[in-house]
Formats: sequence, structure tokens, C-alpha cells
Amino acid sequence: MKKIAVVGGGTMGNGIAHTAAQTGHEVTLLEVSAELLDKALGTIRKNLQRGVDKGKMTAEDRDAVLGRIKTTTSVDDLVDAELIVEAIVENLEVKLGLFRRLDQVAAPGAILASNTSSISITKLAAATKRPADVIGMHFMNPVPVMTLVEVIRGIATSDQTWKKVDELARAMGKTPIEVNDYPGFVSNRVLMPMINEAIFAVYEGVATAEAIDGVMKLGMNHPMGPLTLADFIGLDVCLAILRVLESGFGDPKYRPCPLLVKMVDAGWLGRKSGRGFYEYNG
Ligand code: CAA
Repeated sequence: MKKIAVVGGGTMGNGIAHTAAQTGHEVTLLEVSAELLDKALGTIRKNLQRGVDKGKMTAEDRDAVLGRIKTTTSVDDLVDAELIVEAIVENLEVKLGLFRRLDQVAAPGAILASNTSSISITKLAAATKRPADVIGMHFMNPVPVMTLVEVIRGIATSDQTWKKVDELARAMGKTPIEVNDYPGFVSNRVLMPMINEAIFAVYEGVATAEAIDGVMKLGMNHPMGPLTLADFIGLDVCLAILRVLESGFGDPKYRPCPLLVKMVDAGWLGRKSGRGFYEYNG
């Protein structure tokens, strides 16, 4: 597959567009406004520039990657995409609406993938008339750096769709790992309880955020401690995923720590809002 469309130019969407274009794919990036498209392209340029500054890529290579990314605010421009990756807000109703629309616009046989971190692929597929062609393609943040793509098979996803997406992920320089569609898949089913437990440790006064992160970084060789990582992911996103685990399994072991709920209520969402477990100035 060479023609890829990405819906949503936020952190994950611009990273997916960046990586697809860098590996030679023709990308169409869809956003709701020209301003958001400019912002997404600015981020991609800035991230590509890291490679130029380190001598890993020339300025011509950077411009060639950017040249492979077309931008649009019209869903109708996705008609010739062989695969469309959705990377919009983590809201079931909004995603269902988008999948219904994509199903009308996309070419017959085109694959509809979601980068959702926890919403059911089976539910998204059921909103379309092509459930066999719907799949989860869960990239990790920062997308250009992290090698995993968690490939999630909905109940109706065909072997052919899985195989094409597996090949595409490899062509994007990633390592796909196949999992089935249950709440949180594998990545967030394992990661979020660890983050939640770290938040409980702060809440119960076991240790400071710095101490907890220090234990996990130095003791377990994690690149970031769980609270730094929670700030990086976004505390609202962590809370939303924990809610999906809690309701999806009906198991109170996934209940979000009250401190996490309170911080999200306060608008302390981590890096993106300037404050989470740590403060971010500039
Ligand atoms: N785009 C392009 N390149 C980037 C980048 C970006 N957004 N961010 C970092 N890089 C590059 C840097 O340029 C650098 O490149 P070189 O090796 O060529 O020098 C390299 O990545 C490492 O970056 P830094 O030196 O700036 O910093 P670091 O060594 O501290 O690494 C990190 C930063 C890669 C983010 C590292 O801290 C890390 O791996 N953290 C954990 C990230 C993680 O767990 N992600 C998953 C989150 S969960 C998720 O995404 C899914 C979900 O559903 C919630």
C-alpha cells in the first residue's frame, strides 16, 4: 500500500503522517481547519529538523518527506487512499460518526484503521458496511521513535486486512504485534494499571512523584518513570483509558485513583497543559 490517509493532525496523527511519508508513502493528512494543518506540518518539519541537525538527514530529504504530505480539510479527498488511519479525539461517538463517513467515501476495498488507544475496534467496524476491512493500528508516542505498532483485530477483521496492515507497518519501519480486541488491548491493559498504582502511591503518601519515578527509572530501566510518562501521555487520556478498562471488564481493580480524577478536574493534564505531576514552563 502506497497511498495512505491520516485523519487528525494532533500528536499521534502528525507522527503517523511523518513516519509514513519518511518511508516513501504518499500521505494525505485531513484536519478540520487550515490552522490545524499548518500546526501539524510545523510539528513534522520541526521533528524532521532534529535529523537534519544531527547530520542523519539532509535538508533536501526533509523537504522531500514534506513534499509527500498533501493536506486537506475535505473528507472527499480521501477517495483514492488504500488505507485511512484515524487518529482523532478518543471519543466513541465522534469516532463512530467518522467511521460512518469514511465508509461512504473510501474506495471499495480500502482499509479503515484506528489508532485508538482503547476504544473497541469491533464497535467501530460495526458502524461500517466493511467490518472485515476495519482494524486497529495503535502507534506509540513519539511515533517516529517508537518501534511498536499494536495491530488489533476486531471480531470480523479478515486475515487479508491483517496481512496488509502487518506489511504496511513493517514498510514504515515498525514492528507490528498482533493482539485481539479486548479493553485496553495489551499495551494499555498492562501500562495503565502501573501508572494508576504509581498515582495511588503519591495519593497515599508512600513517596514523592520524583522518588517513584526514580525507583522505576533506575530500578527497572524504564526510560521515563510512570508519572513522567502519565504527564507525557496526558492525564485525561490515562483517565479515559482506565474508565474503559473499568467499565469494559466490570472489575474495580481498574478504578482510577481519586487523585488522578481530581487533577483532571482541575485541568492539570500533564505536559500539554503545563502542569501535571510536574510543572512545564515552555
Ligand atoms: N520526533 C522525532 N524524533 C524524536 C521525537 C519526535 N517527536 N522525540 C524524540 N525524538 C528523537 C530524538 O531526536 C533522539 O534522536 P537520536 O537518537 O537520533 O538522537 C531520540 O528520539 C531520543 O530523544 P531525546 O534524546 O530527546 O530524549 P530521550 O533519550 O530522553 O528519549 C523518549 C525520549 C524517546 C520519549 C524516551 O524518553 C522514551 O522512550 N520514553 C517512553 C515513551 C513511551 O513509553 N511511549 C509510549 C507511551 S504510551 C502510548 O503512546 C500509547 C497509549 O495508548 C497511551
